[in-house]
Amino acid sequence: MATMMKTPSGAKQSAGEQYLYQPGFGDEQSSEALPGALPIGQFSPQKCPYGLYAEKFSSTAFTVSRAGNRRTWLYRIRPSVVQGDFRRIDDGLLRSGPITEVDSPPNQLRWDPIPIPSAPTDFVQGLVTLAANGNLATQQGIGIHVYAANRSMMGRYFYNADGELLLVPQQGRLTVFTECGALAAAPGEILLIPRGMKFRVDLQDGASRGYVCENYGAAFILPERGPVGSDGFANNRDFLAPTAAYEDRRGDYELVCKFGGRLYAAELKHSPLDVVAWVGNSVPYKYDLARFNVMNSVSYDHPDPSIFTVLTSPSDTAGVANCDFVIFPPRWMVAENTFRPPWYHRNIMSEFMGLIYGVYDAKEEGFVPGGGSLHNCMSAHGPDRDAFDKASNATLKPARYEDTMAFMFESRYVIQPTRFALECPQRQQDYVQCWQGLDSNFTG
Ligand SMILES: [Fe+2]
Repeated sequence: MATMMKTPSGAKQSAGEQYLYQPGFGDEQSSEALPGALPIGQFSPQKCPYGLYAEKFSSTAFTVSRAGNRRTWLYRIRPSVVQGDFRRIDDGLLRSGPITEVDSPPNQLRWDPIPIPSAPTDFVQGLVTLAANGNLATQQGIGIHVYAANRSMMGRYFYNADGELLLVPQQGRLTVFTECGALAAAPGEILLIPRGMKFRVDLQDGASRGYVCENYGAAFILPERGPVGSDGFANNRDFLAPTAAYEDRRGDYELVCKFGGRLYAAELKHSPLDVVAWVGNSVPYKYDLARFNVMNSVSYDHPDPSIFTVLTSPSDTAGVANCDFVIFPPRWMVAENTFRPPWYHRNIMSEFMGLIYGVYDAKEEGFVPGGGSLHNCMSAHGPDRDAFDKASNATLKPARYEDTMAFMFESRYVIQPTRFALECPQRQQDYVQCWQGLDSNFTG
């Protein structure tokens, strides 16, 4: 059943109290905010219940395989075509792949958190691009953004034609009102908005910050489990979709969209979140990272971090991801006779890391919540000197890694930092120094 709740603007919106399970991974779901709003037995009857318009929202090409096909039928008060012309607006610090404004260095890069602005800034205005890769025009690669905002979106709505948005809150709770209903996410949870879905973001705690992976490529799916079997890692049942909710209100609103790497805005005389019922499998969803069922070594050595993959965006080469979303959650470490932190590494894949809370075991200092690091294709990385010394001399017994949640956006394409990311004061120009004390211990 739908309930009514107040939004910051004072308008009433119906909001679902319950979430649906298993969205977005092939299984079709449906939800209706008014009883009988969903047509039964067909998708586009001559007249829809309650005088609603039927509108199809296609997130894959029509002819994609049945298993991979994603679309949702939306039953709404007005069709999406009722809007003004788009006009260009300022892109702010938002950028897209490929990044051509500056060279991409092979250096290891690390940043302190982007500060939350003092001027009124909503989620869209607060988007800052740190890096991007691939090419949005060919639907390959990702954009890596931070949002730093201090107020809810007032009178404006947003959609992104360039990719789906994976939100990783780091400070402050979000409520995201979408065409399919509302989802709330706190730090430690993730929230995904399909490419093209309209939404607005309310900040529940004022000053808020988080990371965004803008996925130009194939939609995120759950990775295969292989010999692990039918449970484990991220389980379908823990992914939650909203129940249908709608705003029936008139006024002067703005619809902002990102299209072809640029921002545009159009006038609206009504809320675009006016979907009363929906059925399909392209829907927003949330996931609590604490639900991740962690696999790890119970004998020796440190497996590849792919064991921590929550979601993967496949490319056209099997096993080579457009993007993997990987977490480093609280867990037991029990490996015997083993250097337990991440090993020293050079990788064909490119790795952007962020920290939601706590301390990351390979970098106990300098890598702080809200910050980030980038280790690109074949750029060396690994524990700093202090972490090496500590792990090499530790008494090996079962150890619980508490209060930590780092993550990685890992991609097959070189991740290109923006000019802002290279020149901002938050870039730690001395990052490479953290390894310089690793002297020879050679005894030969
Ligand atoms: Fe690595």
